[in-house]
Amino acid sequence: MSLDIVAELEYIEKVKKINEGKNLKYLILTMGCQLNENDSEKISGMIENMGYTKTENIEESDLVVFNTCCVRENAEDRLFGKLGEVKKIKEKRGTIIAIGGCMMQEKHIVEKLKQSYSFFDIVFGTHTLHKFPKDLYTKLFENKRIEDVLDIDGEIIEGLPITRNDNIKASVTIMNGCNNFCTYCIVPYVRGRERSRNPEDVLNEVRELAKKGYKEITLLGQNVNSYLKSGKVDFDCKVKSFADLLREVNKIEGIERIRFISPHPKDFTDDVIESIRDCDKVCKIIHLPLQSGSTQVLKLMNRRYTKEQYLNLVEKMKKMIPEVVFSTDIIVGFPGETDEDFEDTLDVVRKVHFEQVFMFIYSRRVGTPGDRMENQVPEEIKHARFDKLKELVESQISENNQKYVGTVQKVLVEGTSKTNEELLTGRTDSNKVVNFVGGKDLIGNVVKLKIVSEHMWYLKGEIVE
Ligand code: SAH
Ligand code: SF4
Ligand code: F3S
Repeated sequence: MSLDIVAELEYIEKVKKINEGKNLKYLILTMGCQLNENDSEKISGMIENMGYTKTENIEESDLVVFNTCCVRENAEDRLFGKLGEVKKIKEKRGTIIAIGGCMMQEKHIVEKLKQSYSFFDIVFGTHTLHKFPKDLYTKLFENKRIEDVLDIDGEIIEGLPITRNDNIKASVTIMNGCNNFCTYCIVPYVRGRERSRNPEDVLNEVRELAKKGYKEITLLGQNVNSYLKSGKVDFDCKVKSFADLLREVNKIEGIERIRFISPHPKDFTDDVIESIRDCDKVCKIIHLPLQSGSTQVLKLMNRRYTKEQYLNLVEKMKKMIPEVVFSTDIIVGFPGETDEDFEDTLDVVRKVHFEQVFMFIYSRRVGTPGDRMENQVPEEIKHARFDKLKELVESQISENNQKYVGTVQKVLVEGTSKTNEELLTGRTDSNKVVNFVGGKDLIGNVVKLKIVSEHMWYLKGEIVE
């Protein structure tokens, strides 16, 4: 166990003693991606070990933690909106307010908080997450405001307690940071350089999850197919690449499905494609972020592939894995994007027939090269392009859905439907939501369903006897 974590576990015990018998409640607001959610699970693990129980009701919270995101402006706006609300609750019951995550790595944001939202108690960054128990202890014991943000990349910390949000599906972070510096993106600045976890630690975590009955694992990282390609990589383990890791996770008994996000098209080497093909548990839907279909824009974005290379990669994967399908991320309105460039994006969407497209309007991020580019696209053009892309994507999705009707799909049953307690809900290998009638004992199992109808965002199925 590293020294750091021994100290942190001691702080957990100290805070637990201070809190004994107080019946304290906490609430955590997670505002970012799946990596951010996985960090929240670790924060929850630490907090619950310090004597707090979870609540969904902000009014009765003694500790509120914001786990922030800064990838786009709207993620930032959400924090400031919510802070106003929490201020009133703090005035009423002395709630401790802690703000962590990616946004806290931005100096201008912490300055803004100190000036206009100075009622916060703890600010912590992405590299100091594991020090939260110490920060909380200092706050409780010395009653002073804590600012605990590091500019240098934090070590990979193993052995933190974790409280997971789900008991069927789990995320496992395999690496932190990013080295790619796409010119629109803030992530490399707030998450630091790429650092891979020791493969043995990753595999042990998955083995533990399998023992607890988890069925689906999502391997997480900003660029998973460059796992073990930079930073410290001389681990004493036969796993030497992401392709090897997939093969080893595939051997773990009890796990039925393996997903991963996000790979980068430029690093999609043949060995990774072969592992996906050979490993029966690896889902045959690949998230392959496109960002733009225009070679010119891709160059400005520093994505390091062309439109043709992307399409060739898709073709190669389709040849090697006949059942493969794709999902993607697309940004519209990057500086300099012309109507012609945007047409290229639509062209790729028409050609690939994605199962799912996450669409974003370009958002200027302070400190990134994109923000300094002069030919920013006017808001109304960005919105018009977004609407056009959305229309195309939706028409493709409904077309795609038709293909499911009449087929039999393996569905991992996740629970009851949020909108109708009578129905069960689950997902296909290709990540489509399917609702159906069945006994609650099926939750956590993979069942065969015949798809009987499609409804844009979900399918309806019937159990095949
Ligand atoms: N590392 C991952 C995802 C990073 S963030 C990847 O490379 O795919 C998730 C998505 O947010 C990105 O894929 C991109 O489509 C979008 N995004 C990132 N920065 C953005 C910005 N400044 N404006 C709009 N969308 C952005
Ligand atoms: Fe951002 Fe690009 Fe890194 Fe993804 S690969 S996190 S988009 S810089
Ligand atoms: Fe994720 Fe947002 Fe940070 S997308 S890595 S939480 S900036």
